[in-house]
Amino acid sequence: MNEEQRLASQQVNQPKTKNEPEKDYSKYFEKVFTAPSLKDAKKRGKEEIKYHKDFDIAEEFAGMGVGRTFYIRTYGCQMNEHDTEVMAGIFMQLGYTATDIIEEADIVLLNTCAIRENAENKVFGELGFLLKYKRKNPEMLIGVCGCMSQEESVVNKILKTYPHVDMVFGTHNIHRLPNILKEAYMSKEMVIEVWSKEGDVIENLPKSRNGSIKAWVNIMYGCDKFCTYCIVPYTRGKERSRRPEEIIQEVRELAAAGYKEIMLLGQNVNAYGKDFEDINYRLGDLMDELRKIDIPRIRFTTSHPRDFDDQLIEVLAKGGNLVEHIHLPVQSGSNEVLKIMARKYTREHFLGLVDKIKAAIPGVTLTTDIIVGYPNETEEQFEETLSLYREVGFEMAFTYIYSPREGTPAAKMVDNVPEDVKKERLHRLNAVVQEYSRKALADLEGEIVEVLVEGTSKRREDVLAGYTRKNRLVNFSAPKELIGQLVKVKVVEATSYSLRGEFIEVVKNEKVDAK
Ligand code: SAH
Ligand code: SF4
Ligand code: F3S
Repeated sequence: MNEEQRLASQQVNQPKTKNEPEKDYSKYFEKVFTAPSLKDAKKRGKEEIKYHKDFDIAEEFAGMGVGRTFYIRTYGCQMNEHDTEVMAGIFMQLGYTATDIIEEADIVLLNTCAIRENAENKVFGELGFLLKYKRKNPEMLIGVCGCMSQEESVVNKILKTYPHVDMVFGTHNIHRLPNILKEAYMSKEMVIEVWSKEGDVIENLPKSRNGSIKAWVNIMYGCDKFCTYCIVPYTRGKERSRRPEEIIQEVRELAAAGYKEIMLLGQNVNAYGKDFEDINYRLGDLMDELRKIDIPRIRFTTSHPRDFDDQLIEVLAKGGNLVEHIHLPVQSGSNEVLKIMARKYTREHFLGLVDKIKAAIPGVTLTTDIIVGYPNETEEQFEETLSLYREVGFEMAFTYIYSPREGTPAAKMVDNVPEDVKKERLHRLNAVVQEYSRKALADLEGEIVEVLVEGTSKRREDVLAGYTRKNRLVNFSAPKELIGQLVKVKVVEATSYSLRGEFIEVVKNEKVDAK
């Protein structure tokens, strides 16, 4: 499945929620306006992680947004989407109102993704387009934030080609949004504030969550894995974990507020807790605590095959609200390619891990991410990826053609694989992905599945849509009052990426089994 198909498969219209900002924030703001440096972003020091819990909006910013609107467009992963929720929370705390109409917004923010070139090109296209709106409304403030802002080449290009941009700020500067906005209102110059090195965790940020059924909860930030193709360790900084009590408290509050599903977020959640110096506490320990909370479903993404330890498998095997679906990116089935990717595991290790997981969690669904056309990938190496896919029997995959990212080691590798060969490999891989996805869905015909009803289908207002514990999309006809509830649905037909079913009944006892 590629990114477009992934987005197309998310066919659920979520009901809008009341956007309630939480508290007041901001204190430790210094006025430093800085440009990014990938070189600095690469450094990993031994500095202690600082936890800031006293975030509030300083008096000088109070009411800054009254009578003004904001619009945020999000381009990246779930973490990026969650950052958008935080920024929306800050905007609302400042008195701004959200709008869905971009040309009418007083502030437009593009929350960008740097993972592949096409993600970046979309943003540059949009920036060109925004000039039209800015000409009509010169008061409009345009901002670029997210992972692209962390790259100096991007900031230079914006300075040169898109002078109508008013502010650029990085992933570590989100909590400084009030300061950046104020500066942008006052300054004639483009305001650029991108910290390249960050080792802090900021708690108590406001959030305006998108929906009231499923919620994202960060458990850690950053990545220290430095896979040779990947920009994330540069754009998101060093690995740092939130304290368990903060996470548990947030999940408890979400459960009390009626949320039904939590997605725990981190670029490499298996590294959770590695940075704690005072306690020995890892992802398995956290999951073991969270499963006792009265909320029907808890998931996490993304886990790295290297640190997936036995304790975590043991805890996940307890089931209850811990769902039997694990997204486990493998990237390649060839040991040589895995080695130059610096994934630090072998095909054999990965298959051994899969066997352990399957033995401990019967019926578990595994999904993955794969990159094809890595520099110098041979036909045989690519075929090893196909054979690994079949051996594991993944139910779905996000598949990508390798995209060189400036500043990463892989971008310097000479690449002898022609573009059309890369495309053809992606095509062949996608055929296998589709074969397995179809089969997994077809096997469900006639079965009864538990669906968390999230909204109406994007294609048909009279059809409800939701996901199973294993994250399969199910469409069925039933009254809209069921939105937000867990229901039982009988699967009548499987299509390539979704299921069609008949409503049976509401799941009565949602209490989790956390024995
Ligand atoms: N932290 C996650 C991945 C985050 S990025 C993990 O390690 O599992 C999501 C996916 O994008 C990756 O799994 C990888 O398949 C893909 N990706 C990352 N960098 C890429 C690049 N330079 N070119 C193509 N795909 C890339
Ligand atoms: Fe990127 Fe690798 Fe970190 Fe994932 S684990 S974010 S692929 S460097
Ligand atoms: Fe993209 Fe940054 Fe996420 S590069 S995938 S938005 S961490």
